[in-house]
Amino acid sequence: MYNILTLNKIAKVGTNRLGDNYACSDSVANPDAVLVRSAAMHDMEMPETLLAIARAGAGVNNIPVAKCAEEGIVVFNTPGANANAVKELVIAGLLMSSRKVLAGIEWAKTLKGNGDAVGKMVEKGKSQFVGPEIKGKKLGVIGLGAIGILVANAAADLGMEVLGYDPYISVDAAWKLSHNVKHAQTVDQIYAECDYITVHVPLNDSTREGINASTIAKMKDGVRILNFSRDGLVNSADILAGVKSGKIACYVTDFATDDILCEENIIVMPHLGASTPESEDNCAVMAADQIKDYLENGNITNSVNYPALSMARSGDIRFCVMHKNAPKMLTQILDCITSNGANVEGMENKSKGEYAYTVVDATGADQAVKASIEAIEGVIRVRVI
Ligand SMILES: NC(=O)c1ccc[n+]([C@@H]2O[C@H](COP(=O)([O-])OP(=O)(O)OC[C@H]3O[C@@H](n4cnc5c(N)ncnc54)[C@H](O)[C@@H]3O)[C@@H](O)[C@H]2O)c1
Repeated sequence: MYNILTLNKIAKVGTNRLGDNYACSDSVANPDAVLVRSAAMHDMEMPETLLAIARAGAGVNNIPVAKCAEEGIVVFNTPGANANAVKELVIAGLLMSSRKVLAGIEWAKTLKGNGDAVGKMVEKGKSQFVGPEIKGKKLGVIGLGAIGILVANAAADLGMEVLGYDPYISVDAAWKLSHNVKHAQTVDQIYAECDYITVHVPLNDSTREGINASTIAKMKDGVRILNFSRDGLVNSADILAGVKSGKIACYVTDFATDDILCEENIIVMPHLGASTPESEDNCAVMAADQIKDYLENGNITNSVNYPALSMARSGDIRFCVMHKNAPKMLTQILDCITSNGANVEGMENKSKGEYAYTVVDATGADQAVKASIEAIEGVIRVRVI
């Protein structure tokens, strides 16, 4: 029986996947794993029984990730679970940046009370809300990860010419990209050629304020910029100046900051990218599946502090060893397991930064060797499944 402690409400569609062998509640004692959304865990005393924490969502800044790694607690997240939700809102943003739908709707409200004259007033006044179609226009997508790929493919399906830029694109991602999406060699090519630019990169030191006065100057006059990733990816004062000068026809963002609110040609959404019931469900399902596979098989998918490692079961016993990424660990672990004549049926070892994870399937091994593996210097935690 496994105990799963929930620190936030987790969608039932996820927890139901755990099955009968799991006690899952917000008060369970001696948890093997924690399921969490936004609850702050930095001050929480980690129970000795705790093997894993799964965050139903992408960001993990509410979890002491490094401390967990030191204690052999695997921290999972659910990247991409909300990618479709964000993609749909980006497409809405793309259309709103072009067609003056929002301003038009606001104006239509002002006609209230004009009775039968409303129809005529609409026909007379609507010309102020003309905006271009997106079909045939060029869209630049910076960052082709979970979200960028979906946006690029959907925009291509809507008849846009799409240029994608991502110097670190994964092989998996490249396979998913539509053949209609063209490859930009440099980000400057995106700036120079595109009518619409949408940014889908993580915020880090190399991407921070990548959209700024000097990059905006390289863009076409009347460019439309979308940022559904993080507010720190743009210099908002430079964006504001660009919009006021007319260089930027429209800026659409999912991040509200005081300086850009209530400005003409800036559309600010209150961080709605992942706000769909489906996206919450997807996160819960992924988090539950990852926890279950780790607890039952020791397999790691989407961890932020330990390497990904999944291996089909073979042999009659599995040793899962979390250890420092140091020389000679593997030979010492194998020596212990095979010391009583056991046969190794399968083995994998992966590292991530200063930590590593070794899984060994064996037949004829003695559970008692667990203690001798634990005694190896650099070993953090050993599980026998
Ligand atoms: N608005 C929301 O509610 C919402 C929801 C989920 C994610 N996000 C944000 O969306 C962004 C993208 O998320 P994702 O799930 O697609 O991430 P991801 O990790 O799947 O993809 C990011 C991509 O950016 C690429 N990249 C990194 N640095 C780059 C650079 N300098 N130039 C070009 N490409 C670069 C990476 O190679 C990767 O392919 C993140 O910033 C994330 O925080 C926002």
